[in-house]
Amino acid sequence: MTQGLATRLANVISTPTVEFAHLPPPLKWAGGKRWLVPILHGIWQPYRERRLVEPFVGGMAVALGLQPQTALLNDLNPHLINFYTWLQQGLSIDIHLENNPNYYYRCRKRFNQLILTGQANSEEAAKLFYFMNRTGYNGLCRFNSKNQFNVPFGRYKTINYTNDFRHYTTVLQHWIFSAVDFVQLDLRPTDFIYADPPYDVSFTQYSAHDFKWQDQVRLAEWLASHPGPVVASNQATERIVELYGDLGFAVVLLNAPRRISCTGDRKPAREVLALKGIEPQIVEKLIDSAG
Ligand SMILES: C[S@@+](CC[C@H](N)C(=O)[O-])C[C@H]1O[C@@H](n2cnc3c(N)ncnc32)[C@H](O)[C@@H]1O
Repeated sequence: MTQGLATRLANVISTPTVEFAHLPPPLKWAGGKRWLVPILHGIWQPYRERRLVEPFVGGMAVALGLQPQTALLNDLNPHLINFYTWLQQGLSIDIHLENNPNYYYRCRKRFNQLILTGQANSEEAAKLFYFMNRTGYNGLCRFNSKNQFNVPFGRYKTINYTNDFRHYTTVLQHWIFSAVDFVQLDLRPTDFIYADPPYDVSFTQYSAHDFKWQDQVRLAEWLASHPGPVVASNQATERIVELYGDLGFAVVLLNAPRRISCTGDRKPAREVLALKGIEPQIVEKLIDSAG
């Protein structure tokens, strides 16, 4: 590791507690970055007239927090993107919503039938997707080898469902949604990219949909080749910090909110922000706030 990189590594900053008013993400989504919005908001300010590109939009916490005029929001999950395209048109959930296992499994069966009959992009599929996201186990989105949704019932005590999402249409009206691998995105040189890929974990299980180390490298190189401003976030593993540092990104470490691990331990997570093409004063301010 170079000395410059080691110095940057020492710059661990704590996340501010300021609440930034924005529309809440309509779905539960693993790896949600609502907590990062106040920091990203500061970085985004000089570029706020630009198009925001999120190759891994997930729960949409960042786009809803920054509320750009124009955006290209992408995620490989087509069901998630189908939900957002209906949300953009003024979705109101008029199907029955009930936190009950029998009803949940009936809805899951219907959703899978829609997939099998080529209707996965229907409005009904979007409504069922919302219901299952809220009612299923931990908001997970998981499919078996036959591409059938297989998340079990969630056993929540109470669920506050939202029926009316029509107030999202104004904010979303000039946003474009797509469901492709990030490398297929049609970028403009001036786009501001915020990339939040699946976390790098040292031991990834082998599966067809895993985001592997070679994908992390492919992403970092793709981001490095973009002429406009780029911010990427990831878990601060040593190899991620080195990867972005070696590609010339400024690297800042953050203390992410505590996460409960599978053993029940509460340990603070380390997040890394990798920045390129961002005004130096902004990067310096970010580093200085390490205190
Ligand atoms: C960490 S989550 C993003 C979280 C998001 N920033 C939020 O606040 O909710 C990563 C997302 O990347 C998507 N994804 C995985 N592989 C992808 C690929 N090759 N191209 C585009 N999206 C991908 C996953 O479906 C997942 O929603």
